[in-house]
Amino acid sequence: MNRFEPNLRIPGPTSLPDAVREAGARQMVNHRGPEFAILQNRVIDRLKTFYKTQNDVLILTAAGTGGLEAAVVNFLSPGDKVLSVTVGAFGDRFAKIAATYGADVTKVASEWGRAADAVKVRETLEAAGPWKAVLLTQNETSTAITNRIAELAATVKAVAPDALIIVDAISGLGAVPFETDAWDLDVVVSGSQKAWMVAPGLCFVSVSPRAWEAAAVAKMPKFYFDLAAHKTSAEAGQTPWTPAVAVMFQLDVALELMEQETLPEIWKRHAAVGAAVRAGLTTLGLKLLADPDYASDTVTGAWIPKDLDWKTFNGKLRKLGLVVAGGQGALKGKIFRIGHLGHVTVPAILSAMAVLEQALIELDEPVKPGAAVEAAQVAALQSLGLAK
Ligand SMILES: Cc1ncc(COP(=O)(O)O)c(C=O)c1O
Repeated sequence: MNRFEPNLRIPGPTSLPDAVREAGARQMVNHRGPEFAILQNRVIDRLKTFYKTQNDVLILTAAGTGGLEAAVVNFLSPGDKVLSVTVGAFGDRFAKIAATYGADVTKVASEWGRAADAVKVRETLEAAGPWKAVLLTQNETSTAITNRIAELAATVKAVAPDALIIVDAISGLGAVPFETDAWDLDVVVSGSQKAWMVAPGLCFVSVSPRAWEAAAVAKMPKFYFDLAAHKTSAEAGQTPWTPAVAVMFQLDVALELMEQETLPEIWKRHAAVGAAVRAGLTTLGLKLLADPDYASDTVTGAWIPKDLDWKTFNGKLRKLGLVVAGGQGALKGKIFRIGHLGHVTVPAILSAMAVLEQALIELDEPVKPGAAVEAAQVAALQSLGLAK
């Protein structure tokens, strides 16, 4: 056991502010009583402001993948033509869920590390149809890419205006700019353990009026994730099944903290930490995975130096108190990922850079002490408009 609190820098679960941790230890309440109803209504109102939507937002007790499953089974029928725009492991998972329930899935895939290509999306939509839905990933956590959802949604609207736009925004919403209503998105999924600074256990799904119309005739099987049942319960201040009450307590406090900080400031902070991580890693001589034009401000992936292996590198980092994530799928053992979303500050990132420097020096890599920390701080200051 390590007696020092590690610097948890994985892209979720993210570390929690003290007030959020404490909220999770509160005594239970009756989830069918007035306390829970007041709490849930307040949380939903706040979620809507961060989603930037007037649509319904439902809270489900499930991992993000449960939210993605709900986003499929409630709006589609077996045989429906669905376009899956995938740029990594989570986009592939979304497609797999749709295929599992019998959708006729066509994939537009990008090479890992590259963003979705709006031209390819347009061509594929034009080549066939009619399309029932398009599945998009806002922030592909496996490859550290943020897609331009506004542009992709506009492309879908222009070519296949009847298709529902369903977005996995699990690892980006609440951290980087996102507009559910202005971009006319029908279904948007997020998860508590990411930007929201809350333990895992809840996911959120927004549903447009158009999506509810689709839900009324959708034939895929569902029970636990039946969103119509969730909507009916939410109107009575409840959930159909027992909710993760402790995580709801945490979410209530976290949303209050986010409200105090304000969304524009949250976006600025994430832009600064994203710039800091990219500058720091580059200064360490590490090659970044993501196309720089689409680099995510919530997670960064870099190739492990050629003469090192993941186990040795990660073992050293852990010993020094930094917990990062490895690669997924084909990138397993080849890259590492640093999460920088939610409860994250520039100093926390500088500390992570210092550990990386130390680890690489101890592993005989040619690294100048302090160089990555300096580069990261300068990049953060520039991003905040405090340095040239
Ligand atoms: C973009 C994205 N989609 C889906 C998921 C799956 O979420 P969960 O692990 O909560 O099921 C994740 C989790 O990292 C994610 O980052």
